[in-house]
Amino acid sequence: MNVVALVGSLREESFNLQLVQTMAERYQSLFELTVADIASLPYFTESLEANPPESVVRLQQQIKSADAVVIATPEYNWSIPGVLKNALDWLSRGERVMNGKPVLPVGVSPFMMGTIRAQKHLRDILDSPGIAAKTLVPGGNEILITFARDKFDSTNRLVDEATLTFIDQVMTRFLALAKS
Ligand code: FNR
Repeated sequence: MNVVALVGSLREESFNLQLVQTMAERYQSLFELTVADIASLPYFTESLEANPPESVVRLQQQIKSADAVVIATPEYNWSIPGVLKNALDWLSRGERVMNGKPVLPVGVSPFMMGTIRAQKHLRDILDSPGIAAKTLVPGGNEILITFARDKFDSTNRLVDEATLTFIDQVMTRFLALAKS
């Protein structure tokens, strides 16, 4: 399987990126995971739609050929970061490559709310007509990692066993959804 990840943080030491990297290694026998470049997308404007830049075309093609998408979002001011919203706005146009695409929302925060408000917004966006992604129902399937500093090690990998076991369970259900 071919899985593409959108990571809403551009920070080098991003916990959200670390989570995606942990997933890439942990599930390498199940799928190949590639982190898409969303930083080089221009701000979305309808003026560019007729002749979209290469970065947009590349992302759309990457998503189109993906079997599934993981979206890792930090919480910025109770919502998703602008860079991620910008990518989703681009992906909601043209061929609407997210339509029906299996998407797993995940998020990490150093604090106690674990991106729950950002993920609520993200799920609303994923339900919008231009995106219309396929997601697992939330209850029991929300990967919301709190207090990240206690759960990642010095090599930037998620090492908290209870969290990893939970992610394994959600991933099993997500891969079944993606194959259905
Ligand atoms: C934050 N942070 C934050 N945390 C949170 O739990 N709720 C929030 O609303 C916000 N808002 C917020 C706004 C801005 C502009 C920044 C820069 C940060 C803290 C955030 O969760 C923390 O920086 C994470 O570590 C960001 O994720 P990455 O970069 O580690 O993936």
